[in-house]
Amino acid sequence: MRGLSVAGQLSAHLAGLCDVLGLDQSASIELMMDLLGSNGSRLLSEPPAWPSNVADDHTQVEYSLAFNGAEPPSLRILGEALGSPPSAQANMRAGYEFIDSQVTKFGLSTKRLNAVRDLFATEQPQGAFALWSSLVFRSGRTPEFKVYLNPEVRGVDQAPALVGEALDRLKLGGSYQSLLDRVIRPGELGLHDRISFFALDLDDGPQARVKLYLTHHHADVHDIARAARVVSGVDPSEVAEFCSLAAGTSRFSGRPLVGSYTLTEGSDEPVGYSIYVPIRSYVSDDQEARDKAVALLNRYGFDAGILDQALARLTQRPLRDGVGLIPHVSLRLGPPRPGVTVYLSAETYSVFPPRLKQIPAARSPVERGSTRTTATIR
Ligand code: TRP
Repeated sequence: MRGLSVAGQLSAHLAGLCDVLGLDQSASIELMMDLLGSNGSRLLSEPPAWPSNVADDHTQVEYSLAFNGAEPPSLRILGEALGSPPSAQANMRAGYEFIDSQVTKFGLSTKRLNAVRDLFATEQPQGAFALWSSLVFRSGRTPEFKVYLNPEVRGVDQAPALVGEALDRLKLGGSYQSLLDRVIRPGELGLHDRISFFALDLDDGPQARVKLYLTHHHADVHDIARAARVVSGVDPSEVAEFCSLAAGTSRFSGRPLVGSYTLTEGSDEPVGYSIYVPIRSYVSDDQEARDKAVALLNRYGFDAGILDQALARLTQRPLRDGVGLIPHVSLRLGPPRPGVTVYLSAETYSVFPPRLKQIPAARSPVERGSTRTTATIR
């Protein structure tokens, strides 16, 4: 196995996932090869070329299955193109080169990306990434593309103004300030509440979206309900319940929850909201994560058997033997396709060991140090 290349491993995954979802394998594999570039030929036995933040083990791609009511689940790949040699600056360049090389082939529109590109491009990108791409595959359709830009690329304190300017240029800035005012916990902008991603669909249609993502560290269920409430048509208690069921708690003190607001032309207010729960941080092992994901899929009437089939194509290990195979689950509300998304890790470089079950805290203020285990944040 260790003689296998990154590209070999990831294309085997994709072939399996496409098989489960009834999708054409060659289209997704070819695109992923382009995204991996020369890094694809690295061996799995070598360390990752770059500590990509796409996945915990630094694999540069992450898969997801987007379940929705109207059509079979779609397959998505989130990925970071890497420069050779990789660096923050070189990766950003490689990301743009990847996108540019697909424009003609897939009839992408970079009009809106070009309108804001200079704001997010800097000599010394800061933060966890500069540019990620997302590829969406639906049966019988050409792939759809989205780019993720980092609002904190010029520093955390620059993010609010940077995003304000980007939205103004795209004529979507109308409700931005009031959104921040209503969602951000008092005094927490840039601290516990962060503007973490700015995403653009690379198409021109009337439905083309901008998505603004806010990350809420140490939030509780009320904070999340308040963040969801600002989008009309979204039931905050539904969002809160989804989070509590996914995480098994109402205080999210592990990895932060992330919310996204969908903005489209012609509406002054966000038209949709999604919540992303980093489920891996709130379970002991992947069996528990899988069971929770299945319960959530069932709750919304989706075919959870597909998730089990997909997991079996990614790994042969018992689910109890690791944690992180299902990094997030998300609930998507509003157009164009509400539903539930389950994220899947490639685990190319490592499998994280299961966490010890948490023993309820002792009542006395003195902790029984040796018997009380604390979940590590992952
Ligand atoms: N790995 C990063 C994280 O967990 C980024 C990321 C990848 C992410 N996929 C995601 C964040 C899905 C939110 C939702 O934060």
